[in-house]
Amino acid sequence: MFINYAHRGASEYAPENTVASFDLGIKMGADGIETDVQRTRDGEMVLFHNDKLDGRCSCTGKIEDYTLAELKEMDFGSWKDEKYAGEKITTLEEFAERYFHLDLTFAIELKSCGCEEKTLEIIKRYNAMDKVYVSSFQFEFLEEMRSLDKDIRLSWLILEPINKETCEKLLSIGGVQICPKTEVTEKEHVELAKSMGLEVRLWGTFTTELMKKACTLGVEGTTINFPDKLKEYLDK
Ligand code: G3P
Ligand code: CA
Repeated sequence: MFINYAHRGASEYAPENTVASFDLGIKMGADGIETDVQRTRDGEMVLFHNDKLDGRCSCTGKIEDYTLAELKEMDFGSWKDEKYAGEKITTLEEFAERYFHLDLTFAIELKSCGCEEKTLEIIKRYNAMDKVYVSSFQFEFLEEMRSLDKDIRLSWLILEPINKETCEKLLSIGGVQICPKTEVTEKEHVELAKSMGLEVRLWGTFTTELMKKACTLGVEGTTINFPDKLKEYLDK
């Protein structure tokens, strides 16, 4: 099955990683949601992509510099459009409560250190083990996740094209999905990963050309900022 993952929600149109963006992605027909987890100063899991807050709210610095209560005071919507003024940062807990019961697939990306245990606890508490892939560019975060649970589905985000060594490394920790960039992925890479028993999910599908390419490769899906266009293309 090819899954259309709203990347940080429908982030082309709404402020990324907010409820407004996730809701819009679902409304547009996405059958998956991708999001990014970071740890606050007081150890809470919140959904935010960038290293720094700058440009996404009125404050500067990092997520880890602030408590959840402080972050909840900030406006994470205005930067995108005034109509989103007052949009709040979302916790992983709020995300789980709002979306994990829906018939969707989730790609939860670990962005900062020390998120593994609480993320896993939330996924389990909401009975979402079979709906979630925990992803990261940081292999050590995936290793830590595996050490905590033998069944959690792990996806490794990579920058380079798929190769045998990368697949073997992921398989060595029982990972199930390799995630290369659409731009550098060709059919033979996908066939290699599949011959080794891995699923392939693409990222970096930033244009409609790449979107069309993603649909020809025989992969399990892609993250995309404009899930409406992908839905329309897949339905044709
Ligand atoms: O789909 C995975 C993708 O989100 C990875 O890149 O930078 O958007 O987290 P990034
Ligand atoms: Ca991400």
